Amino acid sequence: MLDQSNRPALPPEIARRRTFAIISHPDAGKTTLTEKFLLFGGAIQMAGQVRAKGEARRTRSDFMALEKERGISVSASAMSFDFSQWRFNLVDTPGHSDFSEDTYRTLTAVDAAIMVIDGAKGVESQTRKLFEVCRLRDLPILTFCNKMDRESRDTFEIIDEIQSNLAIDVAPASWPIGMGRDFLGCYDILHDRLELMDRADRNRVAESIKIEGLDDPMLAQHVPAEQLEKLREELEMARALLPAFDRQSFLEGHLTPIWFGSAINSFGVKELMSGMGEFGPEPQIQKAAERGIAPEETPVTGFVFKVQANMDPKHRDRVAFVRLASGHFERGMKLLHVRSKKPMAVTNPVLFLAADRELAEEAWAGDIIGIPNHGQLRIGDALTEGEALRFTGIPSFAPELLQGVRAGDPMKAKHLEKALMQFAEEGAAKVFKPMIGSGFIVGVVGALQFDVLASRIELEYSLPVRFEGSQFTSARWVMGPKAAVEAFVNVNKGHIAHDSDGDLVYLTRLQWDIDRVSRDHPEVRLTATKEMM
Ligand code: G4P
Repeated sequence: MLDQSNRPALPPEIARRRTFAIISHPDAGKTTLTEKFLLFGGAIQMAGQVRAKGEARRTRSDFMALEKERGISVSASAMSFDFSQWRFNLVDTPGHSDFSEDTYRTLTAVDAAIMVIDGAKGVESQTRKLFEVCRLRDLPILTFCNKMDRESRDTFEIIDEIQSNLAIDVAPASWPIGMGRDFLGCYDILHDRLELMDRADRNRVAESIKIEGLDDPMLAQHVPAEQLEKLREELEMARALLPAFDRQSFLEGHLTPIWFGSAINSFGVKELMSGMGEFGPEPQIQKAAERGIAPEETPVTGFVFKVQANMDPKHRDRVAFVRLASGHFERGMKLLHVRSKKPMAVTNPVLFLAADRELAEEAWAGDIIGIPNHGQLRIGDALTEGEALRFTGIPSFAPELLQGVRAGDPMKAKHLEKALMQFAEEGAAKVFKPMIGSGFIVGVVGALQFDVLASRIELEYSLPVRFEGSQFTSARWVMGPKAAVEAFVNVNKGHIAHDSDGDLVYLTRLQWDIDRVSRDHPEVRLTATKEMM
């Protein structure tokens, strides 16, 4: 991570921004928590408005139906709202494990993550995977232990599991009082406050009660003697056994503060949001090949981390999601599109305010804006006020599954190519054009993506397609000195393809082949990732 210490104070508009994602295993309560964030952020009036179910839990047919209503999923991709003095930018991570590459790239656009776990289930497989991605980027993580209104595990056990399973220190920010039916609320350790849950109204939050430490007689007025005794005991033990919250250690990704609550009952959510505001990172320095880009730099810069196409099937429009890395953006600005070296007037940028898309008159470093375009903007692209920057760290992964694809109507091959290229640019699939023969090979990370692609090609291009087995199972990018690469390509033509950026790819079905290449062509490197820029 870049050294962010000893930096000057940021302009207030930038300093108040918090850009983050929520990571969790399906069913832990990410959707419910998101909804409550929006509710308390004033972005929606009523819970239940965002979407009915978490993306990850949808069945295949639900997913297809959702794809038809892409407007909804798009507006949920990035959401901006105010809470107290802060501006939150919440970037949605697709929950389904088939979309891990998309998730990875989303996490390049945020400065922090909230990890939601189910109090009864603890750390689950998908949480662990996503956590590892956050760790690669040293992202600070706030933890929310949800569903405390149900029978949950013992508090120490939960904390211990996170510590040992994820190898991160855990500092309690709040401490639950009771659980399941006896769950009363939490003791806010960081502010010495008592927070009690209002079971009558799920969308309301009871007033917090200021307490002067654990000996305050006020406590006994609100907490039954037995539970109070247990709370005192547990907190004493926690102080002795667990690390205290340390902001620096949290910002460096070594320690996660944990809040306990119940998203569905709106409980613990405001404390978590305040935690993000008070302790969460301000917009961070973003890495470019040339240097680190500090948010307070005056010229506007940003990078595309996600592209979503055909939100309206009638118009082939796309929205590129841009994370602003620096400066103060104003609508109508002319920015340099670094890859094409062409200026681009950004006249109709959008900010995603929950369910609505709103024209963004201005935005600051840390914000996510959507730029509608006709395909010029791709993942990894940089936009600047003139400097030729290349942002780094946005990877493309070699697909794990490869299939051939055929249009139902052979006369429509050109249409198919267009559709495939669009999905490749959107990052929804890898598309390879073999040097020998016709047709395309499509690569994805998870099998569900083939179904989604087929359905989208049919829906958006009126083109029925069939995916079929390919003779290849692995793809690797070919890197190395020009002459060595040429020599390699010459003797392996039957295995070589170009990806949608025109880069060379080696296709094979055997790991043995890949090993052999490194022996026979020591100067050629076959890589499973490539930087997108
Ligand atoms: P996800 O996006 O992480 O997949 O989870 P989601 O919010 O959809 O929540 C999964 C299930 O857990 C939902 O129940 C939701 O109502 C429930 N839930 C969320 N937070 C809490 C909580 O604090 N306490 C309890 N007891 N349940 C919670 P469902 O019955 O599967 O769906 P639904 O019919 O309620 O939508």
